[in-house]
Amino acid sequence: MANPVQARAEVLSRITEGPYHRLVLLAPEAAPRVRPGHFATLACADSGMLLRRPFSIHRADPEAGTVELVVAEHGEGTRELVRTRVGERLDLIAPLGTPFPLPDGPVSALLVAGGYGSAPMFALGEEIRRRGGQIGFILGAATADRLYGVEQARALTQDVLVVTEDGSAGLQGRVTDPLAQAIKAIDASVVHACGPMPMLRAVTTIALGLGARCHTAVEEAMACGVGICMTCVLPVVDADGVSRFVRSCTDGPVFDGARVRWGDIGTVPADLEGATAMGGKD
Ligand SMILES: Cc1cc2nc3c(=O)[nH]c(=O)nc-3n(C[C@H](O)[C@H](O)[C@H](O)COP(=O)(O)OP(=O)(O)OC[C@H]3O[C@@H](n4cnc5c(N)ncnc54)[C@H](O)[C@@H]3O)c2cc1C
Ligand code: FES
Repeated sequence: MANPVQARAEVLSRITEGPYHRLVLLAPEAAPRVRPGHFATLACADSGMLLRRPFSIHRADPEAGTVELVVAEHGEGTRELVRTRVGERLDLIAPLGTPFPLPDGPVSALLVAGGYGSAPMFALGEEIRRRGGQIGFILGAATADRLYGVEQARALTQDVLVVTEDGSAGLQGRVTDPLAQAIKAIDASVVHACGPMPMLRAVTTIALGLGARCHTAVEEAMACGVGICMTCVLPVVDADGVSRFVRSCTDGPVFDGARVRWGDIGTVPADLEGATAMGGKD
């Protein structure tokens, strides 16, 4: 788990990027602790909501002391957050969760993301390149305006594929359509993915089928974000072969995709350790 701090973080800027709002927050104690794949939570103080809202950390700059989040308006909480004004302070806890594992040396890695799922991927790509590796991206969304960070990806590598469901940018289809070909094209030994659960499941299946490892950043509903409430649990096969519920806010959000029981998410599988006590079938 990360070593999080809580801060009243000043909003240095709020930049509108299509349907997304990039918040640059001053959080000098949090910034040096951030690794790609960590997330942060923000309180929605004005509306008095009890639960904080989780967001992947897009970038952190230890020298500037800043942490950046990319927020899409969804419901009441994000509606409040995207209206935050420069100079206001937000109650931030960061960094949280377990980040993407980083390679010891040069690897070829494919980074696959849907919508704002790309937010943590550029810092990850930079880190992999810093270690001598090469990267490719597949960025997808329903429509062109929902893509995030295509130019950031192109600044890092020429191997960028854009896919939209309606064909309004790049190839028409889903990120999984060109995935097998892209893995082969850059001879990727590892795939990192962030996006909706069905996408992560499909990406994992294809990556494993081609002998690549697959690290997935899941977006499970979270209440506390710090490992206490168990709202965010997923069934995962542990290293000892036993299936257990693990917390996506502390054990994740990044999981080895091969270990996640994708088809059983939202259920209590009968063979899960402790399933009977939880009301699962014998
Ligand atoms: C690890 C992670 C990273 C994310 N990264 C991003 C990102 O980079 N950008 C982005 O725009 N969004 C991101 N999200 C999604 C974002 O957190 C939601 O869009 C946001 O919480 C919605 O809040 P809302 O008030 O606008 O919506 P609402 O639908 O009004 O409220 C959703 C909130 O309700 C609570 N909730 C929902 N279901 C349950 C439940 N079963 N039990 C307990 N509480 C529940 C949660 O606190 C949740 O945050 C991420 C989510 C996670 C888990
Ligand atoms: S959100 Fe409470 S334990 Fe994960």
